[in-house]
Amino acid sequence: MKIQLKQFDVLQSTNVTAVAFAKDGAPEGTVIVAERQNGGRGRRNRVWDSPLGGLWFTVILRPHIDPQYVAQVTLLAGVAVAQALRQIYQTDEITIKWPNDLLLRGKKVCGILSEMQLDENGAIDYAIVGIGINVALNPEDLKGIAASLNASFNKNYTCGYVLDNILREFDFLYQQWLIKGANIVISLWKKLNCTLGKQVLVKDNDEVIFSGEVISIDETGAIIVRSKEGELQSFDFGEISIR
Ligand code: BTN
Repeated sequence: MKIQLKQFDVLQSTNVTAVAFAKDGAPEGTVIVAERQNGGRGRRNRVWDSPLGGLWFTVILRPHIDPQYVAQVTLLAGVAVAQALRQIYQTDEITIKWPNDLLLRGKKVCGILSEMQLDENGAIDYAIVGIGINVALNPEDLKGIAASLNASFNKNYTCGYVLDNILREFDFLYQQWLIKGANIVISLWKKLNCTLGKQVLVKDNDEVIFSGEVISIDETGAIIVRSKEGELQSFDFGEISIR
């Protein structure tokens, strides 16, 4: 895809602006970047703090696939970002916590929020993938559960440099995925994740609804969890809006 960067000093949210561009017909590969966001959004309607020093961007995609597979795009994004960051910072300590939080030594360094829109025929009109990465945040802006990459690795990379590398990786993996399907993404995800084999509590709106060991991930991105009693349940994710 042809990458077209649209750069802004400040936006409410790059996801909001990406939706506006997508509705206006922006082509696949349009990337909205902001130096800071004053209404950054996280999953489950959480606020996403987005001060200067972080990399806040959203990619517009228009994949010609069955909408049931669109959640794979979010997995793909997690894999692409994890691979690019591992390469840039020369580390294998960045891992993916299901569904797509990137952790460094247990602390969050990246979050991903995707949305998609169907057209009146039920096909995908656009998908947007919003990615927030703590590249060079001021330590004072970080809560205890988050870490900043440059400070953690004693590096001084610019957000632009990190973005270029991520988009190259993203584009490569996206083309592979369109041609060859999900297997490559799922197998890379399995290598990079820190969730499979772990005991987890599955929560819905902060309420625990299931607990057990994560034994597998399926091709839609759902995890299969086995309880102590041997009961298997799968949990999926993905946000869609239908016009
Ligand atoms: C999460 O809750 O982990 C997802 C966070 C996603 C944050 C990014 S920053 C760029 C894009 N714009 C937003 O408003 N959110 C996403």
